[in-house]
Amino acid sequence: MRELQVGLKEASYPILIGEGLLQEPSRWADYAGSLAVVVTQPSVEQAYARPIAECLGDVCRGVYVFPDGETHKTLDDLEGLYRYLLEQRLGRDVTLIAVGGGVVGDMTGFAAATYMRGVRFVQAPTTLLAQVDASVGGKTGVNHTLGKNMSGAFWQPQAVLIDPLTLSTLPERELRAGLAEVIKYGLLGDADFFAWLEENLDAVLALDPDAVAQAIETSCACKARIVEADERESSGQRALLNLGHTFAHAIETEQGYAQWHHGEAVACGMVMAADLSVRMKWLTAEQSERARRLIERAELPVNLPEDLTVARLCEHMQHDKKNIGGRQRFVLMRAIGQAELTDQVEPELLQATLRLAGAR
Ligand code: NAD
Ligand code: GLY
Repeated sequence: MRELQVGLKEASYPILIGEGLLQEPSRWADYAGSLAVVVTQPSVEQAYARPIAECLGDVCRGVYVFPDGETHKTLDDLEGLYRYLLEQRLGRDVTLIAVGGGVVGDMTGFAAATYMRGVRFVQAPTTLLAQVDASVGGKTGVNHTLGKNMSGAFWQPQAVLIDPLTLSTLPERELRAGLAEVIKYGLLGDADFFAWLEENLDAVLALDPDAVAQAIETSCACKARIVEADERESSGQRALLNLGHTFAHAIETEQGYAQWHHGEAVACGMVMAADLSVRMKWLTAEQSERARRLIERAELPVNLPEDLTVARLCEHMQHDKKNIGGRQRFVLMRAIGQAELTDQVEPELLQATLRLAGAR
């Protein structure tokens, strides 16, 4: 068992990483309180959510299943969960337990932040992406047709319980999408981890237990450190976790959240961030190429999907949550392992990066 701590004074919580962890009733007794509802998605309901409900015994008042996918990360879909909780007359003593990928985690967290002005919740992530990123740090929310994650709240879980064995049922495309966020940590703040990934990418993809646990632990530790320093993304440090995301969110919004997976868009976004960093004379072409090569080796996209235009992407980027006072802000790289936030990007450089990636 590996254990990390997210240190946020009275909102501190543990991240536990261990095979078989989700099936330990004693574990749930520590975090589920006296009354719980398991919230999940169809792909993991039978394999993981129902067994957790069994572990919870009488504490569990039901299993709520969201429809699958990013297109269902909406206020309308959230309404179904509020209704379910209200119809069961559950009060402020309920704990919501999110079992699934980042979509379920973000939506359950937002429900927990807002149901009766706030109830407890626990994250039990079952995708690599959610295990290394979405379940940690308390960002919760839903999408809007006009922008990604546009309604939400900061609301920290009681605990994050990660069972790497859940990855054995994850489709390979989802595993690769999760790797994008793992690579992100190397690029933004840990050159040694990036080099470790260059060596161990194949072992992680083959689900070698030690390599997977190491990748999850290092990623979570990196995220925990940043969240501890800047929980509400007010000092700029947490914004570094958005490396590649300005581009990614524009792609996802333009596609109506229905084509590329989040991690795929992030992968392509990081390649574009590296290219823009070279154009800004921050990053060497050689380091940019190293970033691109690792992303390519993970079989993640390095060019934009067809039919996207510079004008539409730029329009979406103008709504990015990082922008301040109408000025666009980007996370770029000074070196592998050293990201920085800037509002000094000239439109011509941005347009050149978008064109090189395939935008018309
Ligand atoms: P997802 O939740 O849509 O899950 C991907 C797919 O995998 C789904 O079809 C799901 O049903 C399936 N699945 C999940 N676990 C499985 C398993 N063990 N076996 C088989 N199938 C399984 O997508 P995701 O990539 O996990 O998360 C993406 C979301 O996370 C995005 O909405 C993104 O915005 C959000 N996110 C949030 C944060 C944050 O800090 N809150 C950070 C990163 C990403
Ligand atoms: N995934 C970005 C953040 O948690 O801040």
